[in-house]
Amino acid sequence: AMIGKGNHRHFMHKEIYEQPAVIGDTLSTFVNPATRTVALQDLPFDLAEVSRVTIVACGTSFHSALVAKYWFEKLARISVEVDIASEFRYRAAELPEGGLALFISQSGETADTLAALRYAKSQKQHVAVLVNQPESSMAREADVMLQTLCGPEIGVASTKAFTAQLAVLACFAIAVARARGKIDTQREAELATALAEVPSRIAEVLADEEAIEALGKSLIDARDVLYLGRGTSYPLALEGALKLKELSYIHAEGYAAGEMKHGPIALIDDQMPVIVVAPHDELFEKTASNVQEVLARGGKVIMMSDAAGIAAFPGKTLATIRLPDCDPFVAPILYSIPLQLLAYHTAVHKGTDVDQPRNLAKSVTVE
Ligand code: G6P
Repeated sequence: AMIGKGNHRHFMHKEIYEQPAVIGDTLSTFVNPATRTVALQDLPFDLAEVSRVTIVACGTSFHSALVAKYWFEKLARISVEVDIASEFRYRAAELPEGGLALFISQSGETADTLAALRYAKSQKQHVAVLVNQPESSMAREADVMLQTLCGPEIGVASTKAFTAQLAVLACFAIAVARARGKIDTQREAELATALAEVPSRIAEVLADEEAIEALGKSLIDARDVLYLGRGTSYPLALEGALKLKELSYIHAEGYAAGEMKHGPIALIDDQMPVIVVAPHDELFEKTASNVQEVLARGGKVIMMSDAAGIAAFPGKTLATIRLPDCDPFVAPILYSIPLQLLAYHTAVHKGTDVDQPRNLAKSVTVE
């Protein structure tokens, strides 16, 4: 059937608004809200025996892999390596037998990721894929398929597939944590509840679109934009920057907040918007002090945080985007939304082709 834009001006906008529903659908295959537990399908290997995880992907899917690394390490206490498929496939990675190799791909067809999967198979890894297209090459070649239930994603810049990937990866991390005896019933119940609440929290963020649109408009003349974050907010900073550059053609860079003093700080002046992803989590104070350094150099700070973070932040920001309160574990899913909307509205105001940015393809099936 032909897929239309409904009441939306662009597919991307429609897909941003589909997130509460598609994340709800995706989560319903893993989270049981009655028992407040998380379960994966039966696997052809024992999760408790897995000693090491390798996650490989490209583009936006690579950013969900980076978030997953923090979740798996912290929650399941397992060592995780993450790489870009085009690097991983040629670097002769040493993969001890019995490891788990996970490939993340909306399309299931990205050439580099598929080649990386074949390499992992040749090294006797348990091969799992997280795809949105169950009829894809990666799904066919894997031992295990995990699925995001997003329906077709038409906009070249990935939105709903990214947040749905995060939702599945969060469940996967909880399942590994349980298999390894690293999480108790009470914490699992808290996390299951936090996940179950994500769709309605996303709807709250979407209700704030007008404020984000105004900010997007304010970015159109920027030459460079810097995105900062720590912990799981660091990959979000990378993703926010990727979205902005692919849609609006403004140069944008994501950086770990603590690494800024080793380079990007040299660029900061009163022409430089700096977008800070900073939920009020255990790293907030560290990020806040990095932001002070930006402010001291005249940088224009746009801060994304919750009520507690906004209240605790000591400096004067140009603007704040207030997110609903949530367990910091699910913050990456929620904070994706304002980053998507900001890139979208900047592009719309600049007049670029939002659904089909120049030089980009939805699925890169050649090397
Ligand atoms: C292209 C798309 C991106 C996507 C990347 C990986 O670059 O424009 O939106 O994130 O490929 O695609 P995949 O289908 O493997 O997730």
